[in-house]
This record gives sequence, structure tokens and C-alpha cells, in this order.
Amino acid sequence: MHTTSKRELYDQLASQLSSLLAGERDLIANAANFSSLIFHSLPDLNWAGFYFAKDGELVLGPFQGQPACVRIKIGQGVCGAGAAKCETVIVPNVHEFPGHITCDSASNSEIVVPLLKGSKLIAVLDLDSPSFGRFDDQDEAGLRNLMGIFLESTQC
Ligand code: SME
Repeated sequence: MHTTSKRELYDQLASQLSSLLAGERDLIANAANFSSLIFHSLPDLNWAGFYFAKDGELVLGPFQGQPACVRIKIGQGVCGAGAAKCETVIVPNVHEFPGHITCDSASNSEIVVPLLKGSKLIAVLDLDSPSFGRFDDQDEAGLRNLMGIFLESTQC
């Protein structure tokens, strides 16, 4: 029996995302469909969505999952750390991350991927999982590829 590898799953998601965003450039609409596609396609997630960089802080954007905190300071929590460094942050155990912000008590691991246009931070994509150590460098590579498709298709 063939099980889909993580890499194959991200390849499938890349072509699904391209079709989903084709012909639409609206930031909110595309971020909403992106977060829904990820949440319903990637296994073992309890939250997936965006925080937009606005006036020096992060503000909640389209997401799937439990209601979440609306504003996060740059440098605060996992999202703020990813935004401050403009780098992906993978946290295998959120309970050991200093300053982690708990939105859903079901979350045990997390990945945050920045969305950059040139050197300008547009947003961060945040995924949470109830499993410890859910995210690895294959997730980072797959998500960065998806973010590239998103950026090409979207006015931001
Ligand atoms: N845990 C995040 C906050 C956002 S929620 O997970 C949706 C953080 O520490 O930045």
C-alpha cells in the first residue's frame, strides 16, 4: 500500500493552491482560502492561519481553528519571534518556549513561517498541532513553497 509522503502531500497542495488562487489577487480572500486548504489537508493540526504585520505589531487575519488572540507584539511569543527574525520558527514543545502565547490549550507544537515581499514583512503563517514535534524541515520547505505561490498570486 502506498502512503503519501510529506513531500508528495506538499506537491499536491502546491498545485491545489495554484488553482484555488488563480484569477484572484485579494489578500484577505486568498489568505482565507489558503488557511482553509492547509487546515483541511495537512494532518494533525488544531489551528492554521495568518497574523498580518500592521503598525509595528501582528494582527489576527484569516484562520481556521479556535478563536485566537488578536494582537501580538513583534518579538513576543512564537509568532512574534518569527516576525522579529523574519525566519521560520519550529517549536517541538510550546510549553518549553519562553513567552509562548496559549490560544488553544490543545496546542503542543507550532511552526511560524514569515511571508516576506522583498525584505518587507507582510504576515506570518502560524500552524499549531496537538502532537509534540509535529513540524520539521520538510514542513518548512513545503510551506515556504506554498507561501511563494501565495505571494505571486496576491496583491500585498
Ligand atoms: N502560540 C502563538 C500565538 C498564536 S496562536 O497559537 C494561534 C504564539 O506564541 O505566538
